[in-house]
Amino acid sequence: MHLPSLLLAAGSASVVLSQPLTRLSQRSSKLQFVGINESGPEFGEANIPGTYGTDYTWPDLSTISTFVNKGMNTFRVNFLMERLVPNEMTGSLDAAYLGNLTETVNGITKLGAYAIIVPHNYGRYNGEIITSTEDFAAFWKTVAAEYKDNDKVIFDTNNEFHDESSTLVAQLNQAAITAIRSAGATSQYITIEGNAYTGAWTWTTTQGTDGKTNGETMGSLTDTVEDKLIYQMHQYLDSVRIPLPPLPITRS
Ligand SMILES: *[C@@H]1O[C@H](CO)[C@@H](O)[C@H](O)[C@H]1NC(C)=O
Ligand SMILES: *[C@@H]1O[C@H](CO)[C@@H](O)[C@H](O)[C@H]1NC(C)=O
Repeated sequence: MHLPSLLLAAGSASVVLSQPLTRLSQRSSKLQFVGINESGPEFGEANIPGTYGTDYTWPDLSTISTFVNKGMNTFRVNFLMERLVPNEMTGSLDAAYLGNLTETVNGITKLGAYAIIVPHNYGRYNGEIITSTEDFAAFWKTVAAEYKDNDKVIFDTNNEFHDESSTLVAQLNQAAITAIRSAGATSQYITIEGNAYTGAWTWTTTQGTDGKTNGETMGSLTDTVEDKLIYQMHQYLDSVRIPLPPLPITRS
């Protein structure tokens, strides 16, 4: 499912929807965040760490400036935890992968746009469900410390937790929020994701392995910083069949 997706942001009443570029400037005057998902650094996950240029790549900053010029202001940069902290979640950062991540982040934020950094890990590390809130907190404290002075960075706790305990997912999100703030990153937005692929249409209905839904577990998250916590939900157009206007037919 790699179709255009909606990012629903509670608290700031924002909806991001891929649309024809001509309508973007109109849209971005009404929405706080408008942007796209940048794939590449998380590719080739069968090869860890893998080779840059063969297994994975980094976004091309010139294409990002094209989108900024069209009115987009938010770029979601996917990466893999196993490449950024190779040995264990509590371990240190890989200098080259971090260097490329920071180069990408700085390239985006220098254009005045937000860079959402997201471990594209589905709540797993080395193939195992992350169960230690302490280790997850240590990972986020290490990463957030790198970007604590850049207020255009948005921390996304993890891409699409699924098939695990919803209670655990909420605890991991809370551990990440607390760790990010404790690293001194207090000016940035944090966006959390729920269980069941953080699906908007299943938020209150799909149960985790503990029998609970996101609706029952995710509402209790707290942040010491006011109005900087964004609930992220994914909604694919083929799942809800949003009626779209008919395409104009051109005859020549
Ligand atoms: C972002 O891109 C990755 C890689 O193509 C994809 O797996 C993921 O579903 C995308 N995320 C969203 C929210 O569209
Ligand atoms: C990006 O990664 C490559 C390959 O690992 C490395 O040679 C290069 O130094 C990295 N770039 C930065 C800015 O760290």
